[in-house]
This record gives sequence, structure tokens and C-alpha cells, in this order.
Amino acid sequence: MKRYITTPIYYVNDVPHIGHAYTTIIADFLKRFYALRGDETFFLTGTDEHGQKIEQSASARGKTPMQYATEVSGKFRELWNEFGIDYDHFIRTTDDYHIKAVQLAFEKMRERGDIYKGEYEGQYCVSCESFFTPTQLKEGKFCPDCGKSTSGVKEESYFFALSKYQDKLLEWYESNPILPSYRQNEVINFVKNGLNDLSITRTTFEWGIEIPNQKEGERKHIIYVWLDALLNYVSALGYGGDEKNMSFWQGSIHLVGKDILRFHAIYWPAFLLSLGLPLPQKIYAHGWWLNEGQKMSKSIGNVINPKEVSDEFGNDIFRFFLLREVPFGQDGDFSLNALVDRINSELSNDLGNLLNRLIGMSEKYFSLSLNSSKAKEFFPTEANELENLIAQALPLVENAQFHRYLEEVWKIFSLSNTMIARYEPWSLIKNGESEKTEALLVFLCNALFKGTLLFAPIMPTTAQKIADSLGIEIAPSSFEKMIIQNHYQERFEITKITPLFPRVEKKEKEEKVEEKKAEVKVEEKNPLIKIDDFFLSDLRVGEVLECKNVEGSEKLLLFQVDLGEEKPRQIISGIAQYYNPQDLVGTQVCVVANLKPAKLMGLVSEGMILSVKDENGLKLIIPQEKRKNGSKIG
Ligand code: ME8
Ligand code: MG
Repeated sequence: MKRYITTPIYYVNDVPHIGHAYTTIIADFLKRFYALRGDETFFLTGTDEHGQKIEQSASARGKTPMQYATEVSGKFRELWNEFGIDYDHFIRTTDDYHIKAVQLAFEKMRERGDIYKGEYEGQYCVSCESFFTPTQLKEGKFCPDCGKSTSGVKEESYFFALSKYQDKLLEWYESNPILPSYRQNEVINFVKNGLNDLSITRTTFEWGIEIPNQKEGERKHIIYVWLDALLNYVSALGYGGDEKNMSFWQGSIHLVGKDILRFHAIYWPAFLLSLGLPLPQKIYAHGWWLNEGQKMSKSIGNVINPKEVSDEFGNDIFRFFLLREVPFGQDGDFSLNALVDRINSELSNDLGNLLNRLIGMSEKYFSLSLNSSKAKEFFPTEANELENLIAQALPLVENAQFHRYLEEVWKIFSLSNTMIARYEPWSLIKNGESEKTEALLVFLCNALFKGTLLFAPIMPTTAQKIADSLGIEIAPSSFEKMIIQNHYQERFEITKITPLFPRVEKKEKEEKVEEKKAEVKVEEKNPLIKIDDFFLSDLRVGEVLECKNVEGSEKLLLFQVDLGEEKPRQIISGIAQYYNPQDLVGTQVCVVANLKPAKLMGLVSEGMILSVKDENGLKLIIPQEKRKNGSKIG
């Protein structure tokens, strides 16, 4: 079977954050899941680089749109590579083959009679790249989706006859392509309210794909960025070009956030109908990651950097948490406390301990070499239970209930741990029941083998460690045998490994949470600010009087800084990896002096010391020559 898994292509005006990582990691999970099941897979991600928003962001930074897009697109690709995202192709909408495919599609839609010329008059939200009628706006002015102010647009435009496809769309929804179903219902209601034709060209800016066969003397028309962007899903497969991967289209699964469901569930299938192409198989729409109840987004300035969380806790743990924590489809608050709780209970206790105990007992009683054909015979009830758990888990992936899937898979580990408590292998051995003990350990190895195959797509590194320890292979052939055919392996040669998930202790946990909170990147609200906004920060030069490590922390240094005030300021800074505290005494540093005091590891910090970091490490920003302590920086 062919499976084509896609993420949205991300706008290059935003650096990647947890929300983008979430969608991409679920897509990666699906790709790995289906590949392990033996399906043929193609996984696409990429960047959306045209349109007014990108043009504006680039120009605010003094860059050409292409320079800017190349830079940010590179950051996405870099991050996905660091995260081990197993994509098959990374598309940029500035790629030549994509531009050709979009122009070809435009021409086809025109031949089909679905494109006509007119004049667009209405409101436009640049941030969402979306048109609205005045009645759709909030308080007559604001975008109903993102809440930002919209601008009036009146320009010559080509239109796509969206209204023509209303009935066909409603028919399509009957096959339940959109999950969760409450999201599908929202879409159906929207369509039933009636669809307006869609403006699909703009003439008032430059950065985009020109329409093909532009008439002489006509104003230059640029193709609407959403028509351009949505077509990436087929241009990446070779649509209009060599078409060599187009056969994947039949197995398409689009992952999207609920913010862009309308574009995927209404416009996109209508475009496909016009092009005479099959409609998507599935659209899975997830909710938003929130930070203290607000959507995380660059424009709000409350984004969490996924790299920092993954560096701190490990990539597998990060992936597990994203999928396990929030019911797919719903919004969720990103909480490091919840993350630490899951590490300690599900990962360390349930899974890590199981492997540890299994290794320990196998070594003690059987010198790490197990062999029994009687696992099922001795434990028929549990074998049955295990089979049922697997049968319940598998369809949950198809239903986009990934959190429930992991919950079911974890029941396999609970069952295993319960069996150890119930049968007490140490008592069995004492009573001379060596055969039953060995059968029990072989049963547990089989349960762990099966469970590991099921979570391998979300924690590939952990799965490989367990595979190395049990001497098993994570591969489609194992999946077929152990999961589909419910086979039990008889022999296991076990290798000792270090514990998988060390518990994160309470004290350490609080520190991590505090540090992370302090590290939440507060991004600029708008690319350009006024000078008065800049001077809201009170920047001062000050001399380091004392500096030492914060006890119990590897990252934090505790400073006493003379800012020319009555008494020195106490400031905590996370730069212990880069400097020896005693080397800094006597140095003048730059300090944000009017920050709200914050508590880190029980110590109050009354400011922030400025530094600069790149791939070569971190350096403090230091005045070229000494200046009076407390002098204002401006
Ligand atoms: O919309 N929580 O790009 P985009 C969860 N270029 N997911 C989030 C999120 C959050 N707080 N913030 C972003 C675009 N996302 C278009 C798409 S596709 C043909 C064109 C994720 O950079 C989520 O998947 O604004 C959302 O749909 C997507 O990023 C939007 O990315
Ligand atoms: Mg967006």
C-alpha cells in the first residue's frame, strides 16, 4: 500500500517553534509507523515562501525575499535534520518545478472554465494571507482568525469558481476524510452556509508566481499564495513534470493545524476537482499548543524553542510527550511539569524499570540466556490480554487518536510489570519452578518486543536500545511476525545496558522548569519598532564585583554587579558552561536594569546580562573601554 504523508509547508517569516515541531513529528511518526507496517511511504515537508507577508518581512530586514526565504528555509531544514525527521523530500515553493506546476495548474483550471476575471473588493489579512467580507470581520475591522487588523483591498483579480463545487464537496465529506469528526462538522457547516468565489490573483505586490500567458498591456498578476502553496502537495510528486511519484497521491494524508483546515478541506479539494485529480484520502487537523492559555506564535511573542526542550530532555522523550500529552485535535498547554511527570511515571517506571528488572532476573537466574517454548502455555490469560491490547491499539492510529494509541501500548508494560508482581519469579525460583520462571521471562521479553515495535515510530532511538539489549530487530519483518501474526519468540540472548530513563528528581525538576521558563524566547512583536519602544528597556553598564556557581546547577552563575546604585544587584545568568566565575570579577558587563525580578532556584535575579551566541559559543557583550558603573547604554 502507498502512503503519502505531508506537513503544511511553513511560512518563512517565522522561526520553527514547538507548534511546527508538533505537526512535523506526528507526520514523522506516521511515516515510520506505516513503513514499519511494510507500506511504501513518501513523506513531504517544506517551506511556503511567496506572498505579501514574506515580501514585507524581508524588506523590514533589508533583505530580498529570496535571500530571506533561503535563510529561514535553511533553519527549518536544519532543525528537522537535527530532530532526525525522516522526510523524503523538502519542497520550497521557489523551486523551479513547483513554479512550473503551479502555472500549469492555473492554465488547466482556466481551460476548464473555472477561472474568470473581475475586481476584488474586500478585506485582506496579510498575516493569514486570507480574504474576508466585511461581515466576517470582528468589530468591523479585525481578522476573525488571528485577530489582527485587516486592510481594504480593491484591485483587478482573477477568480476561481469555488461556489460551483459546493455540492461536490458536501458529497465528499460523507466519506469522512477529516478527523477528528468535530472538525469535519465545522467544515460542513461552513460550506452549507454557502461559498463565495475566491480571488486567486493579486496585482499590488511582486513576490509570487506570475500567471501564465499574461495578456499584453495587462497589469502583472501574481498567483494567490494559498493556491500556490496548496499545489505543493502534487508538484512535489512530479505533477506536470516527470510524474514519477504521482502514484503516491492515492494514499495522501495531510497533517494540518486547525488554523488552516479551511484551506485544506475546502479550497484544496475544490482545486483538485477542477484539475480532475483524486481528492485527499485523509486530513488530520490538530489543535494548538498554548503557552498559559494563549496560542503560541511569533506574533504574540510567547513561543517555546523546541530545540532547547529536546536538548534538555532528549529527542525521544520530547516526541513521546508531544504525542502522549494532548488528545489529538484539542489544544494543550505546554507544561514542563507535565513532561517531567511523564518521564518519571510512564518512561522511567513503566518501561525503563521493566527492562531493568528483566535484565537483572535473566542474569541472576539464567546467565542472560533465555529459552522457552512454553510462554503462552503457562500464561494463557495474559497472552490473550496482550493480543487484545494490540488489537485495540492498532486502529487508533488510523483514527488519529495518537494519545490513546500510546496509552494502549503502555498497558502492555503495565501488564508485564503486574505479572512480575503477581508471579514473583524470585519465589518461583526458590520453590524450584525454574521452567515456569524461564517461561515468564520469555513471555515478558515477547511483550517488550511487541510493545517496542509499536512505539518505535515515536521513540526510534529508545526502541533501538531495547532491540540491542534483547537481541531483536525493529523491522517490517518483525512487525509482521510479532504484531500481525502474534508470534512468540522462544530464545533471547540478552545484553546488559544502562537504565533507559533515569528519573528526574524533584529538585532538579524544579530547576529545569525554572530555567526553561526563563529561557522562553520572547520574540519581537513586529519586525520594526519605534525608538521609544527600544528605550523601554533600561540598559546599563556595570562591574562584576562577585561571581560564583549556583549550588546544584550546571548552568547558572550568581553575580553581584555594581550598577552605580546604593547596593550591588544580584543577577543570575545561565552562562556557567561558557565562563569560569572567577575570571569575570572586575569585568564590566551590559545589563538590562529594569527587568521584573525573577526567582531561579530560590534566588532572586534583578536583571539580565547581555551576551551573544553562535555556533562557536557564547561571549558577553563588554564595553570597548571602561565606563562609569551605571552609565546608560543607548
Ligand atoms: O499556515 N500549535 O504556515 P505557518 C500547534 N504556509 N501547531 C502550530 C502552532 C501552535 N501554536 N503554530 C503553528 C501556514 N503550528 C501556511 C501553510 S500549507 C499548503 C501552507 C503549525 O507557518 C500547525 O501545523 O503559519 C499550523 O497549521 C502550521 O504550523 C502553520 O504554519
Ligand atoms: Mg500561521
